[in-house]
Amino acid sequence: MSATRTVTSLLDGRPVEGAPGGTLTIPNPARLDQTVAEASLGDAGTFLEACRRAKAAQPGWAGIPAPVRGRAIQNLGRLVEDNFEGLSHLITREIGKPIKESRGEVQEVVDTCNFFLGEGRRLYGQTVPSEMPDKQLFTFRTPVGAAAIVTAGNFPVAVPSWYIVPALVCGNTIVWKPAEYTPATAQAFAQLILHAGIPTGVFQLVLAEGAPTFEGIERALDEEVLDKVGFTGSSEVGRRIGELCGRHLQSPCLELGGKNPLVVMPDADLDLAVEGALFSGFGTAGQRCTSLGTAIVHRDVHDDFVSRFSEAVRVAPIGDPFQDVLYGPMISARFCERFEHWLELIRPHHAVSGSDGIGRITSANPRAGFVGDPEAGLYYHPMIVDGVTIDDELYRTETFGPIVGIASFDTFDEAIELANAHGYGLSSSIYTNDPLHVFRFRDRISAGMLSVNNSTSGAEAHLPFGGNGRSGNGSRQSGLWVLDQFTKWQAMNWDYSGHLQKAQMDTTELEADPGFRLSGD
Ligand code: UN1
Repeated sequence: MSATRTVTSLLDGRPVEGAPGGTLTIPNPARLDQTVAEASLGDAGTFLEACRRAKAAQPGWAGIPAPVRGRAIQNLGRLVEDNFEGLSHLITREIGKPIKESRGEVQEVVDTCNFFLGEGRRLYGQTVPSEMPDKQLFTFRTPVGAAAIVTAGNFPVAVPSWYIVPALVCGNTIVWKPAEYTPATAQAFAQLILHAGIPTGVFQLVLAEGAPTFEGIERALDEEVLDKVGFTGSSEVGRRIGELCGRHLQSPCLELGGKNPLVVMPDADLDLAVEGALFSGFGTAGQRCTSLGTAIVHRDVHDDFVSRFSEAVRVAPIGDPFQDVLYGPMISARFCERFEHWLELIRPHHAVSGSDGIGRITSANPRAGFVGDPEAGLYYHPMIVDGVTIDDELYRTETFGPIVGIASFDTFDEAIELANAHGYGLSSSIYTNDPLHVFRFRDRISAGMLSVNNSTSGAEAHLPFGGNGRSGNGSRQSGLWVLDQFTKWQAMNWDYSGHLQKAQMDTTELEADPGFRLSGD
């Protein structure tokens, strides 16, 4: 049994004394008798103080040449690689993600560092021709300032790295507020960041609950010590953060919920579609933003798909996340409460399959083939809910847990309506071998991301990640695209003619002959 970690906020790299925001005990969700961390939480004042320090440190960090900042990202990537197993194991202990997925998540941090370490040597601006002689135009990327990064705990290091790594390389300073239920992983990642060579003050860690964080953001915006907010979490909170930042003329980077559709066309390879639905519906126990919400299946293949999918889910190994399982426990007790509430959205016209019971797996409500002792942790039966219609609450509610709805359709138009009408627009997928369906789907799906013959999950670290509608405000993370979140474009013109040349007024006119016509024959 690994030791319990005592974790606190870190201001300027030093642990904060006391616990103005209270304390939290974090159990291992797969082994509730084991405590992973005892966390001392900060309050709105802690958050504000972190922003003040980050703001004070920002000009100094921006003054370090970008290629040198890129070296810090290189160091971080190496530190993460050299601590790969320790970090992966800690994630699995703290949130119950299967160890293979935890390793994938840590690899995503390394990939992100690998992508951005070179960005310090690019951060390209442009040289642009002027309409005047002896005058040159340029563009530069300038850092935004001090950024607060508020992240969820289902990807406790990968998603934070999507913000923190590019923000740092662009010359911003960071206040990171991780999910309060992943403080041990957060502290471990923070230590790696702090050992990567960044100066004191550039990176601050605040452990706090949501309400004091919101208040802290409000106060920091009022005091003008916060220039950008990056938030991954629910659409409801994202909307409030968007309103708050909007009042300060700021545009936050919002990555919100999803109700991701997976469309199965009649020509699809059904086994492949089942494999994709299994991974995206039930991987991480369905607790990803990119998890499959509703499989939308053509009526001709509906029965066949449902029976194959139900069988695949019924025999899938579920249990101890250190074993080879499809999924482990729920991340924390608070996720269980919400999930049990969502189970109430199942109606009499729905047909449920995929397991031997509904709700929590216990010895009284067992699942055949469970890996380990279900009573030891927060384990839930997987559920397939067939017969979902566009009018069901289940259809339009993000249900963060091991539940997948199935709806059926006759025409492509119906499939598109079902894929879009819930109003989310994060990820999506279509299974077909017909290019016509692929490109029509691409054209009409409202989601920011789509997969063809692949699951709704599994975004690679160098493509734009983000959503539309209730899934976000159009901001994108990852790859080159996130640079527009963490830099502002600056336009410069330099006139070296020695006299005032007025744009639009003093431009050279070329004499054309508009009446000219080719001689005909
Ligand atoms: C999330 O759920 O917030 O595409 C992120 C995926 C992962 C990231 C998910 N690479 O499923």
